[in-house]
Amino acid sequence: LQSCCNASHNLVLTKGNIKVGEKITFEMETKKTRVVDEALYEMLPEVSSFYQLCKTLGHCAVIGNGGILRNSSCGEQIDQADIVIRLNLPPLNYTTDVGTKTDLVTANPSILYNKLSYARKPFVQLMKSFGHAEVLMSAFTYAFCMEPSFRVYFTLQDFSLQHVSFLHPGYLSKLHKYWRSKGLKFKRLSSGMIMVSVAMELCSKVSLYGFWPFSFDLNGQPLMHHYYDNQPANRGMHAMPLEFLTFLQMHSKGMLKVNLGRCS
Ligand SMILES: *[C@@H]1O[C@H](CO)[C@@H](O)[C@H](O)[C@H]1NC(C)=O
Ligand SMILES: *[C@@H]1O[C@H](CO)[C@@H](O)[C@H](O)[C@H]1NC(C)=O
Ligand SMILES: *[C@@H]1O[C@H](CO)[C@@H](O)[C@H](O)[C@H]1NC(C)=O
Repeated sequence: LQSCCNASHNLVLTKGNIKVGEKITFEMETKKTRVVDEALYEMLPEVSSFYQLCKTLGHCAVIGNGGILRNSSCGEQIDQADIVIRLNLPPLNYTTDVGTKTDLVTANPSILYNKLSYARKPFVQLMKSFGHAEVLMSAFTYAFCMEPSFRVYFTLQDFSLQHVSFLHPGYLSKLHKYWRSKGLKFKRLSSGMIMVSVAMELCSKVSLYGFWPFSFDLNGQPLMHHYYDNQPANRGMHAMPLEFLTFLQMHSKGMLKVNLGRCS
């Protein structure tokens, strides 16, 4: 993963990996570009925080939002990891099961579009639960992602909350190529697969919780879609079962640990 994709240098756009005047090509709309002007450049961090951290990331836990986490009592175990990565700004309201610690959290621009069109307070309330986590957004996947991502960036800045970093579209397209070359079939990788890949490159040990793309548990009991609600996910875009199979294959080789049962 490091030789294909190099997350430690290129996961997010930084002042170190792009210059004023350079063009950013959108990951999924490769005919469209955005020139890096002074204003955009000023929004970027000096270097990736992962680069500075890269030798000390240690044990990382990546938390999917699956119903399998509900009633798992895994919260304490999750919070013991050095780095906790969460996906798509989940509500942190079943903390006995999911923990409270968050170091990195991804945010989906298309979902946030609605949340920030009206009052900002509920969004700010939600964001407070993520403490000092870094927020990652794929602002340059499609051209329409840019505006909602910038809106989140400035809202969080206005309220002195988290820093938003933008995923480097070049990193994402290399990662897509990498997994296609391994035989994985998908339209786009899910944010879960992206963050597990990042963790595999940067962390000495990786544990997964809340990844289980089925509507029943290991005992055949029905499960909710997410640990926090039963809204079905949009399955059109992602190949969750195939990604999960990949996680299981890595688990059986001892490369990471997939946690499915109860923790205590
Ligand atoms: C990752 O990128 C940095 C900066 O371009 C480079 O110095 C480093 O050698 C790269 N690492 C690998 C493994 O390619
Ligand atoms: C969680 O456990 C409680 C207590 O045993 C039970 O009442 C509840 O239905 C369970 N929730 C889910 C979603 O399984
Ligand atoms: C947890 O958050 C979700 C999403 O906001 C909400 O639907 C659910 O009712 C909340 N549950 C509790 C117990 O607060």
